[in-house]
Amino acid sequence: MYISMRNLTLLIGTALIATSLSAAKLSYTPANPDMYPYPSTAKNKQGLETNVDGAIIRKNVITVKEVYKSQISGKNHNFGVKASKEIVKAWDTDTRPDGKGLPDGAMNVEKGAQVFAAKCATCHGDFGEGVDRFPVLAGGIGTLKLHPKTGGDPGPLKTIGSYAPYIAPFFWYIQTAMPLSAPKSLSNSEVYGILGYLLQLNEIQVNGADIEDDTVIDRKFIKAVHLPNEKGFEYNNLRKPDTHNTRCMKNCIDKSKMVVMHIKTDATVVKPPFGDERYSFDNNKKESKSDIGKTIYENTCAGCHDSGIAGAPKFGEKADWAHVRKENIKDVFEHALKGLNAMPPKGGDMSLKDEDVKSTVKYMLEKSK
Ligand code: HEC
Ligand code: HEC
Repeated sequence: MYISMRNLTLLIGTALIATSLSAAKLSYTPANPDMYPYPSTAKNKQGLETNVDGAIIRKNVITVKEVYKSQISGKNHNFGVKASKEIVKAWDTDTRPDGKGLPDGAMNVEKGAQVFAAKCATCHGDFGEGVDRFPVLAGGIGTLKLHPKTGGDPGPLKTIGSYAPYIAPFFWYIQTAMPLSAPKSLSNSEVYGILGYLLQLNEIQVNGADIEDDTVIDRKFIKAVHLPNEKGFEYNNLRKPDTHNTRCMKNCIDKSKMVVMHIKTDATVVKPPFGDERYSFDNNKKESKSDIGKTIYENTCAGCHDSGIAGAPKFGEKADWAHVRKENIKDVFEHALKGLNAMPPKGGDMSLKDEDVKSTVKYMLEKSK
């Protein structure tokens, strides 16, 4: 068959377009979840059908559905009730990246900002800057590449504007989990208003336009939002490991090179309750009083006193302790034992002995003059 050069070019062109079209069609992101490339069931080595988590699906085992239909249904035995459509609806509140599940409701940004100021700002700051250690919700654009080791202190700041790929799931998150002290207390419209304010704080443009105070936020608006980092995630290697360690079965650790490390967190110190043995690194030798003070300080008090969080006098900072020194030492002990404002009794560890807390206070005063 004779094909002209021009037709050949056209043919190749069409083939290329067809390939790239089907590639585009097949590519999965959370915004097109129906393109998820992996089937929900697979076959294992023995040829048995398995779930995504690898569990074998056993056909001859009674399923929940069959229990309901059978003689031994929950109804006859008084356990549980069948979930009605309404019950399912009450739980089915998630909002997908593509906006599916977003409810009715609307509020403009100005009103959203007012709700934010009243219900969120105590923790997240008036402008989403974050109070103390509470999460920062705005800014940080361009910081994902930063690393403290390469001079990029304080490292990546992950916010809606800098990190998150999609806005719609935040609807669900905020309504389900925030404000921390009263989750599920916001109306749908209030959540829309807040989302608008958070997008405005992050200087997100929608369809090329800034978000103004009178911009009304609703389902349609949220669906039109594209966050700057939407394309920053990789979905092509789903289900492939992202680390490539070689399995080691014997002599894997060179004990002479092992270092025992402690991770110190700034805000909350989570640890099991104290026992006397924790004070002593050598079981045969109890530590002296000043060592106990140091150990307790590092384990229980440093979380706040190292950084001076929430107004705690900073360890080693003479000026911070000046007013404490003016007090009667008995009162200072009393405050450490019983608590004072944001200072929790015994630093939050009620298993500490009174005398050991006092040793710790002495240690702190000693090191802060
Ligand atoms: C009492 C303090 C407090 C209040 C008030 C509060 N939050 Fe939070 N918020 C938190 C804490 C703590 C977290 C982190 C929770 C976690 O990681 O499990 C958080 C997380 C978040 C996040 C996710 C941040 C991220 O980087 O993943 C958003 C968004 C958020 N809050 C929005 C709100 C909104 C909107 C309100 C008001 C309706 C609100 N918060 C009120 C304490 C608070
Ligand atoms: C959750 C944070 C937190 C932890 C943990 C904590 N402190 Fe404090 N501490 C504070 C704050 C805040 C203050 C300032 C209280 C004030 O003056 O209103 C304070 C004040 C004090 C003072 C000065 C009291 C005075 O009379 O003014 C002493 C002493 C002290 N802490 C000892 C300790 C010891 C000992 C521990 C550990 C066993 C500890 N703190 C753990 C937050 C903390």
